[in-house]
Amino acid sequence: MDKCLVTGAAGFIGSHLVEKLVASGFFVVGIDSFTNYYSQQQKKRNIEEFINLPNVTFHSVDILFDDLHSLVKDIDYCFHLAGEPGVRLSWGQTFQNYLHQNVFTTQKLLESLKGTSIKKFIYASSSSVYGACDLPMKEVNQPKPISPYGVTKLAAEQICHAYWHNHKIPFVALRYFTVYGPRQRPDMAFSRMIKCLEIGELFYVYGDGKQTRDFTYVDDIVDATISAAKSGACGEVINTGGGSRANIIEIINLLEKISDRKLNFEHIEGQKGDPSDTLADLEKATRYLNYQSKTHLEQGLKNQFQWFREYGK
Ligand SMILES: NC(=O)c1ccc[n+]([C@@H]2O[C@H](COP(=O)([O-])OP(=O)(O)OC[C@H]3O[C@@H](n4cnc5c(N)ncnc54)[C@H](O)[C@@H]3O)[C@@H](O)[C@H]2O)c1
Repeated sequence: MDKCLVTGAAGFIGSHLVEKLVASGFFVVGIDSFTNYYSQQQKKRNIEEFINLPNVTFHSVDILFDDLHSLVKDIDYCFHLAGEPGVRLSWGQTFQNYLHQNVFTTQKLLESLKGTSIKKFIYASSSSVYGACDLPMKEVNQPKPISPYGVTKLAAEQICHAYWHNHKIPFVALRYFTVYGPRQRPDMAFSRMIKCLEIGELFYVYGDGKQTRDFTYVDDIVDATISAAKSGACGEVINTGGGSRANIIEIINLLEKISDRKLNFEHIEGQKGDPSDTLADLEKATRYLNYQSKTHLEQGLKNQFQWFREYGK
């Protein structure tokens, strides 16, 4: 039975990944340090979804401060999802958290993997590395991030490349495009909209609401992530987008239809570091991972809405 290490296992995407890996016949070691980026209560609830499954262990570990050697010594695959997400807080004083959780963690993890027989290291990168480039965003484009967050995700990709080139740690960096679904982080737009709809609070739309995103359902991201581990791809960066491009006003309309409620919203100034549009070119994902997004936006939103009603409050 192949053994996987999943970092950021208590997070939104990491917790789904652990469940799917176990269901696919892997033994999983999950680690997380429960950073205070958002509520620890939500992360603890995420863990409850898998902690009692067979073939999984969980350790409360901080990659930066704890010794990793015993955790990585007989690992076949490492899925590195731990990090400090979100564009808006990456400006100013809190930039140091982004350097620590995105750059230093990746370097320390790779250092600990030197000399092991790891089959693949998967890094959860981001569409934020592209910045404000022409659409669709292609891996051959020169990345020009416009947020400090994007800079740290790009730096981590490059660190993966350096350890592959010099220490033969086979890696794939997946550039995730705005992921949504049950357990989505509470700071993300869909989570905030759903909460405001449910409790009747005012929702703030950044800018004119016409900015578009290539929204990706969490199950599709998880499938692509596992495919990347099993694929022959090595030393590659690969986009994983959802093919469901929509703007914020369209999402509000869809959520109003799903909930049969009206969202009370107001426009405020756009956020620095947010590109106006994203859209993934999926040619590489199709070629290397046989990737196809399966979940339609409306169905995915219904699933997230349902989850919020049951667990999210
Ligand atoms: N959610 C998205 O739309 C999206 C898009 C692009 C890229 N990503 C990337 O995917 C990854 C997962 O994102 P998410 O939305 O699930 O975020 P999340 O915040 O829910 O999960 C990240 C987890 O990493 C943990 N962590 C942070 N630093 C750690 C450390 N030093 N040691 C151990 N654990 C640590 C946190 O406690 C958290 O539980 C992140 O790296 C993020 O940058 C996410």
